[in-house]
Amino acid sequence: MEITEHTPLFETKKSRGRLIYRSFATSLFLCICFVWIYRISHIKDAKGEHGKWVWLGMFCAELWFGFYWVLTQAFRWNLVFRQPFTNRLSQRYEKKLPGVDIFVCTADPDIEPPKMVINTVLSVMAYDYPTENLNVYLSDDAGSQITFYALLEASNFAKHWIPFSRKFKVEPRSPAAYFKSIVSSGYSADSDQVKELTAIKKLYNEMERRIEDATKFGEVPKEARLKHKGFSQWDSYSSRRDHDTILEILLHKKDPENSKDVDGFLLPTLVYLAREKRPQYFHNFKAGAMNSLLRVSSNISDGKIILNVDCDMYSNNSQSVRDALCFFMDEEKGHKIAYVQFPQIFENVTKNDLYGSGLISISEVEFPGADGCGGPLYIGSGCFHRRESLCGLKFSDQYRNDWNIKEDYQFKKVSLKELEEESKALASCTYEENTLWGKEMGLRYGCPVEDVITGLSIQCQGWKSVYYNPLRKAFLGLAPTTLPQTLVQHKRWSEGDLQILISKYSPAWYGFGRITLALQMGYSIYCLWAPSSFATLYYSIIPSLYLLKGIPLFPKISSPWFIPFAYIIVGEATYSLLEFFFCGGTFQGWWNELRIWLYKRTSSYLFACIDTILKLFGFSDLTFVITTKVTEEEASKRHEKEIMEFGTSSPMLTVLATLALLNLFCFLSVLKNAVLREGGFGICETMVLQLLLCGFLVLINLPIYQALFLRKDNGRLPGSVAIKSVLLALFVVTFFSFA
Ligand SMILES: *[C@@H]1O[C@H](CO)[C@@H](O)[C@H](O)[C@H]1NC(C)=O
Ligand SMILES: *[C@@H]1O[C@H](CO)[C@@H](O)[C@H](O)[C@H]1NC(C)=O
Repeated sequence: MEITEHTPLFETKKSRGRLIYRSFATSLFLCICFVWIYRISHIKDAKGEHGKWVWLGMFCAELWFGFYWVLTQAFRWNLVFRQPFTNRLSQRYEKKLPGVDIFVCTADPDIEPPKMVINTVLSVMAYDYPTENLNVYLSDDAGSQITFYALLEASNFAKHWIPFSRKFKVEPRSPAAYFKSIVSSGYSADSDQVKELTAIKKLYNEMERRIEDATKFGEVPKEARLKHKGFSQWDSYSSRRDHDTILEILLHKKDPENSKDVDGFLLPTLVYLAREKRPQYFHNFKAGAMNSLLRVSSNISDGKIILNVDCDMYSNNSQSVRDALCFFMDEEKGHKIAYVQFPQIFENVTKNDLYGSGLISISEVEFPGADGCGGPLYIGSGCFHRRESLCGLKFSDQYRNDWNIKEDYQFKKVSLKELEEESKALASCTYEENTLWGKEMGLRYGCPVEDVITGLSIQCQGWKSVYYNPLRKAFLGLAPTTLPQTLVQHKRWSEGDLQILISKYSPAWYGFGRITLALQMGYSIYCLWAPSSFATLYYSIIPSLYLLKGIPLFPKISSPWFIPFAYIIVGEATYSLLEFFFCGGTFQGWWNELRIWLYKRTSSYLFACIDTILKLFGFSDLTFVITTKVTEEEASKRHEKEIMEFGTSSPMLTVLATLALLNLFCFLSVLKNAVLREGGFGICETMVLQLLLCGFLVLINLPIYQALFLRKDNGRLPGSVAIKSVLLALFVVTFFSFA
């Protein structure tokens, strides 16, 4: 095909099979209505002392499940898939590509080791993109000298690494990931490359050793400190919560001597920033760091496009910047797009994804669905932004792309030193006082999931966003590798999302009339994660206890009302299994995800709700637990074998264990009665759904029983949890049977 000025830079395809899906969803919805009707019309059938209330509770739970299911349809109704054409981009714009500023954020050198951080930095510095237009900023919220030292080392290593990766078209361009991949793939190439590879690997290993030593001893080598003036900025540093702005431009075209690679080509700009911190000023976590970066970078490079990645998400594809630009630079539709979100893919996920941390149905189904109704959420990492929209510009029909660099900026004649001093002022604590930063400009403050709220408010200003999920994944990160980590992470997410719902940026009212109804519904899927814990808890306790008492809560198998229940169970199970296969999962993986679905709802979300309510009454404060990303050796062996890691005692685990045991006791006792009593198997007719539900809960909790009673390793459930949960479950069961 001939390429003219008018061929689009990207295309959008709708998913196939939409008609089939929509018919299925409609039929399921009908059955949900029948279940509601059944509950209302059969309230007189409720037996037992508090029967009516229990029945009403069942109705409320089913009302919630149905309502929530309807919400999830918003992101399944209209899936779209995007495809950029980078060759067209190069043909038309290769000489006119815009500046791209890349922000890498790190917050704690103990949890996010400097070695990992610089691999991410190197991977984005090595993008296949004109280096004079590429600028990389590292924001270090710990203000750690070790991290600075590691970055300094990385800036020297880049002089070898970038020419090497360009010459041999290396992928991925994170050195650690690349060296690991060639070891595992039994590497073969011409001798020229082997020689250079050996040399560069040696350089890398030496650098790695120096950084690891510095990390271990908590001290920068003396020679390095003497050699580089940047370290003197730590002279006035008192703690990570109390220090001046530390800003160092490590590579910049104004310092060409130092900023060229070994082949004599210019390297990307590289800047280290630790914004000013004072105990009396609230720092607003990552949102605060991002806003400082936005201002500092506008003074140093002013790239029109901003990429933001977490420090544990390295680039796995050197073409991603070009992919993203195809969306922004498209002549017809590009000017409407505020951000392009890539999926977050996790490397440390085992084959059957024991903790459901791959979140694949979100990245493969829900986000393409979000894209079909106005654009995906902004999820904080792996996202390209248009600087203007991130800084608060409202979209208007007159808006057009303009990639030219501002003139006054281009001719700015200041020395590097002056540039540093000027920029430092932009990262001070007081800079934002009486400004719109955090309110209408930059990332919005006041919420632990600042990214989602920012994306929503950008969409509310009329912009569109795009989701691009390439076959070869663009960013790879680390997922939690133990159950407590997973649960804590989800507590934080669901709590933050719930706070969005009750904040002034709620998709429900703030979004009303500004974004499509479908998108409002879609946002609510995540905002309502936490409250869905109540219905799930009810469903996993009450039917089992009533089974124990022999009181039916569902229609019996011979009743026509049984049909809608059966249809929903079979239909939804089959559909979710098929969806999971479509996303590339395994059967075991689906089962694991179902388990995590249950665990999140009965622990993380429950505690998220409790905390939110406490906070409403002014009790606790925003506390942040960063999820650890390194694991000990024994635990990582169990991780590879897919043995669930509990390890610590926490209230969340006690709740999970108690629920598991409660269902086990109910199930065993019913089984015993069925066998011992004459006609005991009659309950299979009268109470089959309750029996199935209880049996399902027992089956899915098998790893908990093992961890309580059978395992001996350190990852088992601690004895204290075992005692507490056995006592609690026994108490509830006995109390209930005699009540
Ligand atoms: C990462 O990139 C490599 C090529 O460098 C590719 O083989 C691999 O499949 C990619 N990983 C993912 C998860 O897409
Ligand atoms: C990631 O998982 C691999 C094996 O699956 C393991 O060797 C490695 O230590 C893990 N890394 C982290 C940081 O947990």
